[in-house]
Amino acid sequence: MTQIWAHRGARAEAPENTLPAFELAIEQQADGVEFDVQFTADNELVVIHDETVARTTDGQGRVVAYSLAQLQRLDASAGKPEFAGVQIPTLAQVLEVLAPTKLELNIELKNSVEDYPGLEEAVVAMVAEFGLADRVVLSSFNHYSLKKLQSLGAPSPIGMLYSDPLYRPWRYAAKLGVDALHPPARYVTSARFVRKAHAAGLAVRPWIVNGERRLERTFRWGVDAVFTDYPARALALRDAVADVY
Ligand code: G3P
Ligand code: CA
Repeated sequence: MTQIWAHRGARAEAPENTLPAFELAIEQQADGVEFDVQFTADNELVVIHDETVARTTDGQGRVVAYSLAQLQRLDASAGKPEFAGVQIPTLAQVLEVLAPTKLELNIELKNSVEDYPGLEEAVVAMVAEFGLADRVVLSSFNHYSLKKLQSLGAPSPIGMLYSDPLYRPWRYAAKLGVDALHPPARYVTSARFVRKAHAAGLAVRPWIVNGERRLERTFRWGVDAVFTDYPARALALRDAVADVY
């Protein structure tokens, strides 16, 4: 059965990558959550998607230019006034909320634009501190970073994010030695795609799957999980078609 993973938390209804978005995903009984990790100027791990703060907070400038204290003074309600005052959380704050649950966690290292030396080590150490390695999937668009995670002996499975139309991505991913494909949903076009990936030992988790038609066909094709902004909708649809797939 396809798992439903809340993309940046339940971000359609709560500010993305904030504690309320993760709490809502838990409440809605999502199977997992996805979120993005970066470094502050003082090398603290924070959960935020963009490399700049302008879109989701009332501040300006690069995430890495802020200390944690400065960053947490920003309002991260991301255009949702009912959440005014919500902060950008640290990775530790997010893990504290998720650790007591059964949810799977996909931690995306956001290190394709900013370099963030040491990000891999810091994330792996934090996951170990919370004893969550067996519920975590690590991913990145930066495939050098995926190799770095492997070289560190990171015990969590690794998902290969990509955004360009790779030819036979299961071959490249198998060569890279990762555990899953995390492709844009538009590239997962057939059951054959999923079969090929599975035959190469790879899980398939497309992003971002919001519409009912696309959700239904990914369920039918047997993808392992979908990242969605609407976990409640996806869960309801999955229940409705459970007898069929
Ligand atoms: O991990 C899936 C998805 O989150 C990747 O794209 O831009 O939302 O981080 P993005
Ligand atoms: Ca992400």
